[in-house]
Amino acid sequence: MTRLIYVLNGPNLNMLGVREPEIYGTETLADLRSRTEKAAAANGLTIEFRQSNVEGELVNWVQEARGKAKGIIINAGAYTHTSVAVLDALQAVGLPVIEVHLSNIFRRDQFRQHSYVSLAATGIICGLGGKGYELAIEAMTDILSKGGNKA
Ligand code: DQA
Repeated sequence: MTRLIYVLNGPNLNMLGVREPEIYGTETLADLRSRTEKAAAANGLTIEFRQSNVEGELVNWVQEARGKAKGIIINAGAYTHTSVAVLDALQAVGLPVIEVHLSNIFRRDQFRQHSYVSLAATGIICGLGGKGYELAIEAMTDILSKGGNKA
């Protein structure tokens, strides 16, 4: 059975390609999806890749991952900095979590420099654009090879 990873994307990431390309680059969400799928296939993983602008939908998907997936890769977009609900869901499901951001949130506005998601994440990858999604797949593969425990 292949190991399934949920790759969840938050608000405004559906606008990638047109959204502030000087910050987020020119790749679309579909581009990111195919990069992530390729990296997953190369590592023997399958992915469920989703995007929503709705906080509660992200919470539902995190909960859904429990029992179905071996881990969660999440770019929660702006909810990273605001959502206790997303954090609570990530902590509730007990799966390994890797947090991804296209931009380097630590060299941007002060309000982006705090992440609720980080409190539930094994690690964070930011500032490397779409490459970060591929690196997250590699990191998740590593975590799963060591037993897939939440750290
Ligand atoms: C982002 C960074 C967030 O601060 C922002 O709200 C986003 C995208 C990133 O991928 O760089 O929507 O998560």
